[in-house]
Amino acid sequence: MKGIVLAGGTGSRLFPLTKITNKHLLPIYDKPMIYYPIETLVEAGIKDLLIVTGGRNSGDFLRLLANGKEFGLKHINYTYQEGEGGIAEALALAEHFADNDKICVILGDNIIEGSIKGAAEDFRHQERGAKILLKEVHDAERFGVAEIQGDRIVGIEEKPQRPKSNYAVTGIYLYDETVFDKTRTLKPSARGELEITDVNNAYIREGTMTFDFLDGWWTDAGTFESLLRAANLVYETRHRQGGSAPATAGAAGL
Ligand code: G1P
Repeated sequence: MKGIVLAGGTGSRLFPLTKITNKHLLPIYDKPMIYYPIETLVEAGIKDLLIVTGGRNSGDFLRLLANGKEFGLKHINYTYQEGEGGIAEALALAEHFADNDKICVILGDNIIEGSIKGAAEDFRHQERGAKILLKEVHDAERFGVAEIQGDRIVGIEEKPQRPKSNYAVTGIYLYDETVFDKTRTLKPSARGELEITDVNNAYIREGTMTFDFLDGWWTDAGTFESLLRAANLVYETRHRQGGSAPATAGAAGL
């Protein structure tokens, strides 16, 4: 299975932080944001990686990550998304790289506490289709929201005003090779983007979508609030584990 990190977009919700750099290069506590999704994939045993980026700062990813030595990798692949066509458009650029293999896609601003190793292993054995990872949240209207009946997922609504459940669809998606046939059929949504939720609903319609729940905390980092929350969660987790939290933090009672 191959891994794809989607790290394009203008990061408009974080303006002016993103005026002169890409959102995924901003710090989350002590590392650039994109380190976290890369670590998530590598920890799950997915080491053949493609970074999809774009905009004026795309060259900085190469300077930052190079061949991925810090992650124990020998090589990283890169591709460039022109314009602002959305997550599914960025994913479509990975077809050549995927080369009919299964893929694990992660949004570059999704940060998790736990591991996706188990889900990736299950999906390696899943004959076909897709798998998504859900997380119970209090603000489901900010996300894609899964409707579940029994042990089946029957639909996903993108940022619904009245969510049908508290289960957010996290930005971690496992797909078989038919995903690129599905991205080809998409039409832009009201926000003018090709939506990953439409890709997932195509799998749900054909009856090949499975799901799992993510253990530990999960956050995106695309707004000021979630960017701050992400840093605090990483900090608190590291501190709890007796990691490298600075001494002053202890004095502050954190
Ligand atoms: C995207 C997806 C949404 C998903 C979220 C996870 O939202 O469209 O379905 O729940 O990522 O981070 P966006 O961040 O583009 O608003």
